[in-house]
Amino acid sequence: MTALVTANDLKRSYDIRRGLFRAPAQLQAVGGISFAIDAGKTLAIVGESGCGKSTLARLVTLIEKPSAGTLSLDGLDAVHPPAGAAKALRRTVQIVFQNPYGSLNPRKRIGAILEEPLIINTNLGKQERRAQALDMMAKVGLRPEQYGRYPHMFSGGQRQRIAIARALMLRPKLLVADEPVSALDMSVQAQVLNLLADLQRELGLAYLFISHDLGVVRHIADDVLIMYLGLVMEHGPKERIFARPLHPYAQALVDATPGLGRKGRRIVPKGELPSPLDPPAGCVFSTRCPHVTELCRAQRPPLRPLDGRLVACHDAERFLDTQPA
Ligand SMILES: Nc1ncnc2c1ncn2[C@@H]1O[C@H](COP(=O)(O)OP(=O)(O)OP(=O)(O)O)[C@@H](O)[C@H]1O
Ligand SMILES: [Mg+2]
Repeated sequence: MTALVTANDLKRSYDIRRGLFRAPAQLQAVGGISFAIDAGKTLAIVGESGCGKSTLARLVTLIEKPSAGTLSLDGLDAVHPPAGAAKALRRTVQIVFQNPYGSLNPRKRIGAILEEPLIINTNLGKQERRAQALDMMAKVGLRPEQYGRYPHMFSGGQRQRIAIARALMLRPKLLVADEPVSALDMSVQAQVLNLLADLQRELGLAYLFISHDLGVVRHIADDVLIMYLGLVMEHGPKERIFARPLHPYAQALVDATPGLGRKGRRIVPKGELPSPLDPPAGCVFSTRCPHVTELCRAQRPPLRPLDGRLVACHDAERFLDTQPA
């Protein structure tokens, strides 16, 4: 089976102006990321603020073009789409953002918000559009009488349901969810995560699920990809990484997650996140790694297979021996 989404060495850099007389600097927000997502599966992208998660989301949802690398969606080249394929590609992937307040037009009723993608992209008549909107409202747990209400009349969790419903109106195969529950209360987070899991099962959706919090993705993820300063630190099946993270940064994230942390150990990164404009030579995590060696400061470790996942650490083997599987 070929994957629904295949990203190969995706890169995105930005020119940052530094005043009139200095040359612009290059900021590499995404520094060469590869992954595949099968239909109906979830890849979770996890890393702290500024590591490039939203930039990656914009590349995968075709909002921005990569500076380099390839991306294929449902068998189509998404970077250089074949003639006539752009529209089909855009329908294949949709996005849900963190803040459901900003992403819903406050002057439109829910019905109109949900039907807008149908008006733009289909020839459906009024009755059929309304029927599809009501059907999608039911799927995301909204009631028919809410069809005529405005966004401000809803709670944050309900608003996120509306944003999810709108994203699904054109029946995408991939939903990119960029911190979809981070702005919600804990109890509401669980409800929205359960909804996403139900919708995945019902509609066969694939998710690229972005979070700064490993705890949020622990139930929904199949694979996990851990990013730091635009690069992959560790990538593989959730069970592998959660049970025995090999990269020290992955270990730190696992240890910091309530209910996941390993007994009797806790890795805490040293110091501050370096500026992405001036990333460390060698391993990008070397300035904060408690196990750093001279080799780490000098040479960037390649992402390599080990113990059923990919890991970018020169010394990953030593963590195989010291941790319980
Ligand atoms: N349009 C842009 N122009 C310049 N720099 C940008 C642009 N977009 C993102 N960046 C920079 O790229 C890096 C990655 O940003 P990005 O928003 O992708 O991170 P993130 O992981 O989503 O962070 P957060 O968790 O805070 O949402 C940051 O250093 C950011 O400042
Ligand atoms: Mg972001």
